[in-house]
Amino acid sequence: MLFKKSRLKKVIEDIGEVGTLLWQKGWAERNAGNVSVDVTEIMAGMVISEQKKKKIVFKIPDEILADRFYLVTATGARLRDTKKFPEENILLVMIDKKLDGYYILNYTDSQRPSTSEFISHLLIYAFLLRNNRKERAILHTHPNHIIALTHIKKYANEKKFNKLIWSIHPEVKVVIPEGAGFVPYRCPGTEELGNETIKRLKNHRIVIWEKHGCVAVGKDLLEAFDLIDTINKSAELFFICKSAGFEPEGLSDRQIKGLIKNFNLRSHV
Ligand code: 13P
Ligand code: ZN
Repeated sequence: MLFKKSRLKKVIEDIGEVGTLLWQKGWAERNAGNVSVDVTEIMAGMVISEQKKKKIVFKIPDEILADRFYLVTATGARLRDTKKFPEENILLVMIDKKLDGYYILNYTDSQRPSTSEFISHLLIYAFLLRNNRKERAILHTHPNHIIALTHIKKYANEKKFNKLIWSIHPEVKVVIPEGAGFVPYRCPGTEELGNETIKRLKNHRIVIWEKHGCVAVGKDLLEAFDLIDTINKSAELFFICKSAGFEPEGLSDRQIKGLIKNFNLRSHV
């Protein structure tokens, strides 16, 4: 019922749309990836008393998150199912002001708790709020060509990774002039991964997780998706050249400087 309320409905539709895109891209095997959106403003003044709630014990990492509302995918949810079965796969949660957990407000008996990456999502939201950033959506996914690139030692650091993706496809420099942040491998689902991620978000909107995937933030999920899609395309073009037996030439430093000048590029962060 809650999901039928108009402004919440639009966000649920966005999650379904992005879930479908990720599946079509081949980035969302089984339960791979997770998404969340801050819906605190939408929930202001909304009556939620008729719902069955369940409290999940969870260490909330920052008091700024108290009483905030999020739509977040459940752990184990198939992103391709979020469009067809939103109620089972997407949770509406409210952070307990005691900071010892969160309430699932659309709870059903078969409901699983939030994504195993929820600690990263919450650390990111706290970071965004504390830094007056405008982004309110988080997308984590497993993009094939980005992951493959992080397995190549030569490119598995921030400087070399960005130099390559900017040089293969001009659009990447235009859309993401600040480049991507890069977190060396950390175990999925850990607070350490979240903490390393927020360090990079100071200057970035997308952060690569070595040998795992990436996470991007946007004003909505589609904006976050576009950042990942643009970078993955560049990585894909690199592998197309390599698979055909050629070393890609890439744009020269001069050509990159030409882009900066002509498009008047400056960081979006
Ligand atoms: P969840 O099903 O817990 O969201 O895990 C998917 C994932 O990609 C973990 O990194
Ligand atoms: Zn993952």
